[in-house]
Amino acid sequence: MEDREQWGTRAGFILAAVGSAVGLGNIWRFPYVAYDNGGGAFFIPYLFALLTAGIPLLIMEFTMGHKYRGSAPLSFARMNKKTEWIGWWQVSIAFIISTYYAVIIAWAMAYTYFAVGLQWGNDPGGFLMGEYLRRVDLVNGASVGSVGSVVPGVFIPLILVWVITLAILFKGVKQGIEKANRIFIPTLVIMFLIIVIRALTLEGASIGLEAFFKPDWSKIASPGVWVAAYGQIFFSLSIAFAIMITYSSYLPKHADINNNAFIAAFSNSGVELLAGFGVFATLGFLAKQANLPIEDVATAGIGLAFVVFPEILNSFPGFNDLFGVLFFGSLVSAGLSSLISIVETFVAAIQDKFKVSRTKAVTVGGGLSALFSILFATQGGLFFLDAVDYFINTFGIALAGLVSVITVSWVVRNLKPFQEHANLTSDLRTGLWWKVCLGVVTPGVLGYMFVLNLIDNLK
Ligand code: PFF
Ligand code: NA
Repeated sequence: MEDREQWGTRAGFILAAVGSAVGLGNIWRFPYVAYDNGGGAFFIPYLFALLTAGIPLLIMEFTMGHKYRGSAPLSFARMNKKTEWIGWWQVSIAFIISTYYAVIIAWAMAYTYFAVGLQWGNDPGGFLMGEYLRRVDLVNGASVGSVGSVVPGVFIPLILVWVITLAILFKGVKQGIEKANRIFIPTLVIMFLIIVIRALTLEGASIGLEAFFKPDWSKIASPGVWVAAYGQIFFSLSIAFAIMITYSSYLPKHADINNNAFIAAFSNSGVELLAGFGVFATLGFLAKQANLPIEDVATAGIGLAFVVFPEILNSFPGFNDLFGVLFFGSLVSAGLSSLISIVETFVAAIQDKFKVSRTKAVTVGGGLSALFSILFATQGGLFFLDAVDYFINTFGIALAGLVSVITVSWVVRNLKPFQEHANLTSDLRTGLWWKVCLGVVTPGVLGYMFVLNLIDNLK
């Protein structure tokens, strides 16, 4: 087999996998997805999806990459020529995600800077709109300036995001990705822990936590909630969009696949849970300060990070700037380590398919994604971004996950050889449960929920 790049150490691979998994999905996405989908009651579908789909699929993807030693399309092709398209489908999802994810990181970078001196002033909502979306009249859709024009305040950080990402990727797996994660992950963990601990000791924290954990049992019966749980698990673990297959294709021969998968999955969910505590404790603080019910302050996504958090920081009891820098800085480092992993999926795919050098593949693949990302850095781009994110998660990732498990278990009938392959190098051996989860439970539950959700949406 051809010479393939390799991780330098076992820790290097785990750090990189955790670096990919722990991203904006944990800090920015999980808290509101959980809140919107039943709060405390969401933990049931979430845990179910983690144990029956997330971890088994992560093991499956690690095995595929390790066994076939290829990017996603090449690994699928080596498994069975006719399934190569699934790899390309996953790589396409990765490409689309990378274009908007880079822009969110750029916004976080801009806000890391704005946090110094709390430059957003007394009205962060107005600041976001005024500074950046100034000329877009959202009420009647008419634009006073032009919706298509690039927002300078985000364009400059966006260039920086791409320069850092591509510089790391040019250096390759061991010297680039592995080294970068050795810096990003410890930095992230330290910053993040400081913020979460501070958040939990804020006045009113318990109000937020109560809202976060209060179960809305009526929601569990809704298929949309289950699809959301699977979607969150797949997105959060970076599965079903080519990343983990690519990263594990750089593993040395004797790598403990099963153990690595459990470590990566539990670290990811741990951070996710901590982020939920942190975000809701902080929202509780705001609710108390503003004397508003928690439902009124618990907004999602963009509004949460770039409007509600600045508001909270304004009334923070001391060290406002510092906590602002820590919060937005942790979004940036979590985001960058994920962006690197997702761009690497198409870099590897291009290298494998066209037999070109890493330098060429990074230039072409990374360059194209960087160009497209400018679309989301325009006035109005931020709104467009939320819609793409929803669409990609529901109809891209969840569906790609479903198709890939069905293909491996029923079309190619490869569960048994995969399991033998993974068990060979691990002291943690998977048993029958693994095959049942992938072959029966995941396709059954996810397929059924998917159809119900579709019908729900069409009504
Ligand atoms: N696992 C990542 C997260 O939770 O944020 C998902 C991800 C998104 C990975 C975008 C990579 C990426 F570029
Ligand atoms: Na994640």
